[in-house]
Amino acid sequence: MSIKAEEISALIKKQIENYQSEIQVSDVGTVIVVGDGIARVHGLDNVMAGELVEFSNGVMGMAQNLEENNVGIVILGPYSDIREGSEVRRTGRIMEVPVGEELIGRVVNPLGQPVDGLGPINTTKTRPIESPATGVMDRKSVHEPLQTGIKAIDALVPIGRGQRELIIGDRQTGKTSVAIDTILNQADQNMICIYVAIGQKESTVRGTVETLRKHGALDYTIVVTASASQPAPLLYLAPYAGVTMGEEFMFNGKHVLVVYDDLSKQASAYRELSLLLRRPPGREAFPGDVFYLHSRLLERAAKLNDTHGAGSITALPFVETQAGDISAYIPTNVISITDGQIFLQSDLFFSGVRPAINAGLSVSRVGGSAQIKAMKKVAGTLRLDLASFRELEAFAQFGSDLDKSTQAKLARGARTVEVLKQDLNKPIKVEKQVMILFALTRGHLDSIPVGDIGRFEDEFLSWLDRNHQQVLDHIRTTGDLPKEDEIVAAINEFKKSFVISE
Ligand SMILES: Nc1ncnc2c1ncn2[C@@H]1O[C@H](COP(=O)(O)OP(=O)(O)OP(=O)(O)O)[C@@H](O)[C@H]1O
Ligand SMILES: [Mg+2]
Repeated sequence: MSIKAEEISALIKKQIENYQSEIQVSDVGTVIVVGDGIARVHGLDNVMAGELVEFSNGVMGMAQNLEENNVGIVILGPYSDIREGSEVRRTGRIMEVPVGEELIGRVVNPLGQPVDGLGPINTTKTRPIESPATGVMDRKSVHEPLQTGIKAIDALVPIGRGQRELIIGDRQTGKTSVAIDTILNQADQNMICIYVAIGQKESTVRGTVETLRKHGALDYTIVVTASASQPAPLLYLAPYAGVTMGEEFMFNGKHVLVVYDDLSKQASAYRELSLLLRRPPGREAFPGDVFYLHSRLLERAAKLNDTHGAGSITALPFVETQAGDISAYIPTNVISITDGQIFLQSDLFFSGVRPAINAGLSVSRVGGSAQIKAMKKVAGTLRLDLASFRELEAFAQFGSDLDKSTQAKLARGARTVEVLKQDLNKPIKVEKQVMILFALTRGHLDSIPVGDIGRFEDEFLSWLDRNHQQVLDHIRTTGDLPKEDEIVAAINEFKKSFVISE
């Protein structure tokens, strides 16, 4: 059999005609300029907004600005060896993070990579970090309490599962402490916690992780950290990564608490990124879509209805103010998105009222529907009483002779302030909170000197543990108060043994 040259060449020609390159030209681009964590790339015509791309040194990037001649890409890692002319490849994937139970107890960066030195995390699933929020029909109104274990919050500004409650205050006013105590109190509440640290010092994050570990809270907590030394894009992504990890649990019917500490730093990182990408700056040099930056994040907190498994994500975003100015740009934005705010005030903090919650300016728009019945009965008007006490107190400084009822109000107010003080890392179970607040609001503490209130509370609560466990059990299991006579009898019995200091 002879081989015909024409046949072979025809065959080759046909093969060449039908050959399709696996890599299309538009899937590989070249870097035109690079600097400050941003690369401008030519030739990625088909790239999608938010798509992951890979640089020739293996570092990933995310496509942000799709312009006519080039694409603005934020680089998610070290960029010193990316050069002009380097290749950039599309991956066809939108940015995603690993999700699942395996992450619990670990400290990860916003890409889901471990940074705690405890070895690789063997997750099998991932989720895209940008995903639409749950729709209205799949939701249910917030009705279950999220017990923070902090008296001032559970009594005055109760938080419900699925709610978004802003924690706002100047620097060093105990914001992070509120979040940590809340996480510590979730130990037996069937809750998975995600703490997202944005732009904090590595040492601070380390301290937080140690506190959580020491109290056994790391068993149900994931820490996502993008420290101050990380490039801005990672700070920008961190909250989305956190909520994405939470969504995996929520859609499986679990309850999740996500803390964003704090969104001011995320907004600054986003501003940096936007300015480098040459997007037009607006108020306070933030880009025009900084509201959307936070609204699309916080809308992902939800309480799902029963057909969708009844899971929830509760969000506690933080915002740092400058000199108590809650009417600045970012604070007002986030206040308008969330279902209430807890305002921590530095002069309260320095005068020893800790947690330094300003009762007048703090609200929870979900309010009473997220409180157990017993708490509603004892703390119904406490917030307004406290706020009016603060006003009265300011006036009373001028007046010398006050009438009886004013004096009584001032006396009660001073005791309220004392009762609501709480030490660090000592969350108090709701049944105990109810008992001490009962004693306060029904006037049983009026005969105790203000200076003794703190000690009274400590001793009373541990005395209850030993002598009246059934009252505590009743509140815990039924959510309602036992017969009031029974509580009053217990309080009077304890008061007999309580020694007032001179
Ligand atoms: N309830 C409290 N009782 C006693 N000390 C407290 C209490 N809450 C916070 N502190 C102390 O106040 C300091 C500041 O608290 P924290 O770090 O929580 O504030 P922050 O507002 O998060 O600060 P930053 O702005 O630096 O993030 C800490 O040293 C903490 O120990
Ligand atoms: Mg802090």
